[in-house]
Formats: sequence, structure tokens, C-alpha cells
Amino acid sequence: MQTFKTIHDLRNYLDDLRANGKSIGFVPTMGALHEGHLSLIREAKEENDVVVCSIFVNPIQFNNSSDLEKYPRTIETDMQLLIQEDCDVLFFPDEKEMYPVPSTEQYDFGDLDKVMEGEHRPGHFNGVAVVVKKLFEIVEPQRAYFGLKDYQQMVIVHKLTKDYNIPVEIVPCSIVREENGLAMSSRNERLSLTERTQAALIYQTLKMVKIKSGFATITEVKEFVVKQFRKQKNMKLEYFEIVDMYSLQPLRTWAQSTTVIACIAVWVGNVRLIDNIILFS
Ligand code: PAJ
Repeated sequence: MQTFKTIHDLRNYLDDLRANGKSIGFVPTMGALHEGHLSLIREAKEENDVVVCSIFVNPIQFNNSSDLEKYPRTIETDMQLLIQEDCDVLFFPDEKEMYPVPSTEQYDFGDLDKVMEGEHRPGHFNGVAVVVKKLFEIVEPQRAYFGLKDYQQMVIVHKLTKDYNIPVEIVPCSIVREENGLAMSSRNERLSLTERTQAALIYQTLKMVKIKSGFATITEVKEFVVKQFRKQKNMKLEYFEIVDMYSLQPLRTWAQSTTVIACIAVWVGNVRLIDNIILFS
């Protein structure tokens, strides 16, 4: 695996590959890699000649300084995992390389970032957009792989590529889960063993939501979810929304859309976790 820390060296290397007609698949990450990330690398390997992974803990997408400080950084293990997956290129820049001067860019995603993660993490998606656009301009991939776990992020990145005519195909990838159903996340490393077991309730609840969506009203489903977490001492529901998969706008009745996803954010102790389930598509 080739590892680059500077934009200049990475570009030189990729320019040569492109000149030789190689297709480039890109997997942007913040490291602390797990099976969820690795599934993206595998999918990219299948569909492209060359796979580039980036690891950069992007400070401007953290709206909470303690979350940024505590974000796991495991570069040595990450490199080993990427080598095992036969990843071709790792881009691992430092902050100065990505932000020689502080970014002042402001993006407008209309209503897409006024709900859910956007509503509860002010500035988060602007920070994601700044770094993803920079990375796309540096790597110039044909395809970029994003996990459905961060569903709203995937929709917003897709809009970014349309708004700015960035010629990259966004490839959505399935959510990889632990055995108990908990969606894999770098933040899971901060959960105690007991908390990991408790956190299984998130996906259990989402599966029950899917069953209930066949006969209960949206209001009833929401009440059910609130009740599920009210009983838990160490868990706090931040939001649960049933939204249209494209506009991300909350629905009041099932009749309002035929493409529907339920999204949730829950605090388990002091770790914030998100998950979702597609109800109709
Ligand atoms: P990070 O949280 O490291 O996630 C990198 C990619 O892995 C994202 O596309 C995310 O959706 C995907 N991913 C994470 N957990 C997953 C799981 N359990 N199953 C499937 N895919 C999963 O998302 C980011 O980093 C950043 O916001 C980034 C896009 C890199 C910009 O900084």
C-alpha cells in the first residue's frame, strides 16, 4: 500500500494512474477502522482498478470539542487492516495540509440539513461538505463509497456533487452490524461492555418500528420509541424521525411518501450513536 501525507505527492501518483486509464474508487474515513469501513473498501476493490482510502479526523465537522478529543485514533492498526484488505493507497494528511488557512466556505443544503443530525449538530454538515469537496478535488475519483449508516450524510454529499457538478458517482453501502445488531461505529469503542449490550436496544427498536409501520400510525410508532428509551437509565433518545428518503422531511402520515426511512440518535452513557432502517422503498 502506498501512503501519502501530502496533496502534492498523492496527486502526482494518481495522475500517472489516471493517464494509464485506471479507474479510482475512493473511501473517505476518519479512521478507527472497523468492518463497516472495510466493507466499503471491499466494494470499492470490486468496482475499480485502484482504491484510495483517506483517514482524516476532520476537526471542523465536530460541534462538540470533547467528542473531537475523545475520537479514537488508531492509525497503526488502521494501516494493518488496509494492507490486509489490499487497499492500494492511503491518504493520511495532517490538519495543516488540509487547512493551511481556516475554511470560510458556507454551503446551503436547503431543508436537507435542517433536520436530524443537521438540527442537533449545528455546523456538522458544513464541515463534512468542506472536507469531502476538498478530498474529491484532490483524489478525483470515478466512484466514492458512503455507508448508509450515516444516511443523511450520504444524501447531502450526493447533493453536493450535483450542485457543484463534481463528476463522481456516490455509491451507497449497506450498514454492517455487530452480532447483537448494534451498527458498527468508531464511537462504539468508547462504550463499556454493559453499554454495548444496552445499545442493542437501538436496532431492536428499529426492527419493531418496521413491523409496526405495517399497521400503526406514525404518531403511535413515535410514542412507542419514546417509551422504549424512557425506561432506560443510561440511555437518552435525542431524536427519532420518520422521513422521506429523498427530501429528508418528517412525515405525518404514511400516505405522504412511498420511500420512507426511520432515523434515530441515542445517547448511551456519554456516547452518541445513530442508526436507521428503511421502512418502504
Ligand atoms: P467515518 O465515520 O469514519 O465513516 C466513514 C464511512 O464509513 C462513512 O461513509 C460511513 O457511513 C461508513 N460507515 C461507518 N460505519 C459503518 C457501518 N457500520 N456500516 C457501513 N458503513 C459504515 O463519515 C465519516 O467518517 C466522515 O464524516 C467523512 C465522510 C470521512 C468526512 O470527514
